[in-house]
Amino acid sequence: MKMRAGYSIFLLVLSLTVCNAGKLSNTFYKNTCPQVEKIVREIIQIHTRNNPSLGAQLIRMQFHDCFVRGCDASVLLDTVSNSKAEKEAIPNQSLGGFDVIDDIKAAIERVCPKVVSCADILALAARDAISSPFKKSMWSVQLGRRDGRVSLATEISGNLPSPFANFTSLVQLFKGKGLNVNDLVVLSGAHTLGDSRCGAFSRRLYNFTSKGDADPSLDPTYAKILRKKCPNPASPAITVEMDPGSSLSFDNHYYDILLQRKGLFVSDAALLTDKNSNKIVTRLQRSRSLFFTAFAKSMKKMAAIGVLTGNAGEIRQNCRVVNPGKN
Ligand code: HEM
Ligand SMILES: *[C@@H]1O[C@H](CO)[C@@H](O)[C@H](O)[C@H]1NC(C)=O
Ligand SMILES: *[C@@H]1O[C@H](CO)[C@@H](O)[C@H](O)[C@H]1NC(C)=O
Ligand SMILES: *[C@@H]1O[C@H](CO)[C@@H](O)[C@H](O)[C@H]1NC(C)=O
Repeated sequence: MKMRAGYSIFLLVLSLTVCNAGKLSNTFYKNTCPQVEKIVREIIQIHTRNNPSLGAQLIRMQFHDCFVRGCDASVLLDTVSNSKAEKEAIPNQSLGGFDVIDDIKAAIERVCPKVVSCADILALAARDAISSPFKKSMWSVQLGRRDGRVSLATEISGNLPSPFANFTSLVQLFKGKGLNVNDLVVLSGAHTLGDSRCGAFSRRLYNFTSKGDADPSLDPTYAKILRKKCPNPASPAITVEMDPGSSLSFDNHYYDILLQRKGLFVSDAALLTDKNSNKIVTRLQRSRSLFFTAFAKSMKKMAAIGVLTGNAGEIRQNCRVVNPGKN
């Protein structure tokens, strides 16, 4: 009898521990909004037809969301009165796709009102936008996040990595989010998609050590090409493909570019400055399928950073504003 009780307590503690570890679930909306994944997928399909860069925009938005206050859709909130929201911060650097999230949210509210969080919608939308050309889901998304009520531009600094960060500070910052060196190298592979404005790397072209010099770790021939594209100073309207010639296809080509010393940012080149990290780069460069598997795994970790679950936070009705009447 005594042993029985002990065993039950053991089981109870075990199940509590397991529940805490797996706060998000694959079937969270099974009873409350079974159509949610289908709705997101269909709306994303329509939008990616007109905007092939949507995958790049949304996965970057998800990254910014998760690294600042956890994956709580704080990146989606608009500025209120005199408190500037995350999206107004200088490193918001051309975030896009907010209108698409609004579209999806409106469609979901029509079918299952007040049930699906904006944070979950963002995670699904980013996955589906990148998956669209593959005609299958490239990773699975766990659900059950709730939305935060705070978004502050002042919290960007120190939470989002700088494109000028060295390896040590990148590792430090990722570690603070529960991500390791492998996750850092794998998730940086998202730079196989999209563009950057010149400001994020022009110092490498013109004034690396304030002596009018170029970054010696950048291929000199490529630096010359980049100087043509980005005069000093360059208009913020000018953008450069991060994975030239392949910036619309989600693949492991980023690691090719990196090994050719054509990674655009100091933070990209930094991945070659450590022996272990360098090894991971080489491995990912050799196998696209390994990259896909690794990316799915690291995305699952990133998408769970600091999530609000249970009764924490709220289910926002409009992704741009917190619900009224609650302080
Ligand atoms: C490792 C540290 C990282 C740094 C320092 C960094 C920095 C940057 C910068 C400076 C840009 C260009 C912004 C501009 O146009 O001004 C950019 C673009 C982008 N980043 Fe990162 N990033 C990092 C990691 C990530 C991660 C983890 C992801 C996603 C998983 C990601 C996804 C993207 C995408 C897709 C773009 C292109 C966006 C577009 O074309 O709309 N980045 N990043
Ligand atoms: C990004 O910040 C700039 C400057 O603060 C602002 O003008 C722009 O509207 C912001 N972008 C978004 C998408 O909010
Ligand atoms: C990396 O950057 C940090 C922050 O800027 C700096 O304190 C540190 O000295 C740098 N480390 C190396 C090895 O350059
Ligand atoms: C390079 O940087 C130094 C120090 O910040 C600055 O004084 C100089 O004007 C810069 N030169 C160019 C060409 O941007």
